[in-house]
Amino acid sequence: MMTRAKKENPLLEDVPLIEIVVLAAGLGTRMKSDLPKVLHRICGKPMLAFVLEQLQAGMRSLVAGPHNEGQDSARLNIVVGYGREKVEQAVRELIEAKKISMPVVFTYQQRQLGTGHAVKLALEQPTSSGAKIVAVINGDLPLFTSGLFCELVRAHLSAKSSATLASGIIHDAGQYGRVVRKNGTFVRVVEFKDATTAQRRIREYNGGVYVFDAELLRNALSSAGNNNAAGEFYLPDVFAYAAKKKKKILAHCLADAVPLSGVNNMKELAAAQKVIYVGTAEALMAEGVFIPEPEHTYIAPSVRAGRGCVIGPFSTVHGDTVLADHAQIGAHCEVTDVTIGEGSVLKTGTVAERSSVGREAQIGPMARLRPGSRIGDHVKIGNFVEIKEAMIGEHTAISHLSYVGDAEIGANCNLGCGFITCNFDGTVRNGRRKHRTVIGNRVFVGSDSQVVAPIELADGVYVASGSTVTESVHDQDSLVIGRSRQVTKLGYAKKYRPD
Ligand code: UD1
Ligand code: MG
Repeated sequence: MMTRAKKENPLLEDVPLIEIVVLAAGLGTRMKSDLPKVLHRICGKPMLAFVLEQLQAGMRSLVAGPHNEGQDSARLNIVVGYGREKVEQAVRELIEAKKISMPVVFTYQQRQLGTGHAVKLALEQPTSSGAKIVAVINGDLPLFTSGLFCELVRAHLSAKSSATLASGIIHDAGQYGRVVRKNGTFVRVVEFKDATTAQRRIREYNGGVYVFDAELLRNALSSAGNNNAAGEFYLPDVFAYAAKKKKKILAHCLADAVPLSGVNNMKELAAAQKVIYVGTAEALMAEGVFIPEPEHTYIAPSVRAGRGCVIGPFSTVHGDTVLADHAQIGAHCEVTDVTIGEGSVLKTGTVAERSSVGREAQIGPMARLRPGSRIGDHVKIGNFVEIKEAMIGEHTAISHLSYVGDAEIGANCNLGCGFITCNFDGTVRNGRRKHRTVIGNRVFVGSDSQVVAPIELADGVYVASGSTVTESVHDQDSLVIGRSRQVTKLGYAKKYRPD
């Protein structure tokens, strides 16, 4: 299948179908963890998600026209092995969240016999036979970018290369495979374990991202061996094979090699996360967001923020969080998948997840918005207030020490200090464990009151302090007193004093 590419890029007039093999089968021994390596999380999501989302974006910009998102031109072939169910589940979640729209297949590599073996199995998938070129990427490169992907595909096509890798140069290339050149011409990759002392001094390393001519790759892998220090089938051995067959090979050396930072241990995981956080803070500041302590503010690249926004130190902002203009997040907040309206403020220590906040609202300090909280314009949610699955109407105030769960609260209400929706009474009714509270507009609830759900209070109801309200009130503007009467006994206190 051939797909039309952007007209202005003559190289990509016809982008051949690309099979993109993502290597994600390894345990990651050096992580010293039970979790499959590629599922280790940074910036709130598995590192594999970064790789896949960048591949998706890369394909989009390589071939996208108004009616093509790149999904017709490429397929993701993800090699799974260790912890395969968990890795497949993580990928399915990305598909459901529409972060990936390309077709996806999984290849199961039961025993991790090496990167060459993994790719060989991937190419045994029947439908991969239509691909003219095969891109391969190690799943442990969370800093990989769509730009790098496009650059590599373009370099491969324009050089008419049969096998291309992205390389970088650093002072000490650690345990990376080294790019061996003879009189400047790239001849092969030697793995660190197999390298001589002189080869280990080579500063150019293999970054683990490749583009191959499909036929060449198949031929190379079918004759590959594992006679090396690790006893593994090495994918980079394809380069020596191609060179021997007098095919053109290319080590495309990047000016900026940061996107090739492999993550093989916890230290590298933390370092990669830091690069993303600092880069995101810098990008947001360039757009007019003030981040007073960019080194100590943890914002995922998926977060959007408008002009005049402020995000304070030690706050973590993840997921599809969006801050409209002049919204603010104070210090030490944790915010995930929250939409914050213009001019609203989340004060120090607030934790918010999968919720929305309208305009000019004030939340916190130390408030908690659990999933499903929908906070209206000009609302005030004060300290130690927890909201869950609840809608709070505009101009309503819940200022202190309260719990509002499974509720619909109208506009212009005042819920006093210590208000509680008793949403769970231990009984399952109509299949529900939790019961709803519906409160109309202009309701005033005095301090230290509880409403026992399911319950409704009509507009304008006034609940006396210290009430426990167990019955719905359907008549507007009623006064509700749900407490025992006070008894005052004159002089009686003396009885309790010993003196
Ligand atoms: C690999 C390269 C090395 C390169 C480095 C860049 C090989 C032999 N070496 O080394 O030249 O400098 O990446 O980061 O390829 N995997 C499988 N199945 C396997 C083995 C590995 O799916 O049988 C996956 C791993 O889960 C990982 C990726 O392939 O995501 C790379 O494997 P890893 O063990 O990290 O290779 P490196 O030692 O980093
Ligand atoms: Mg690696």
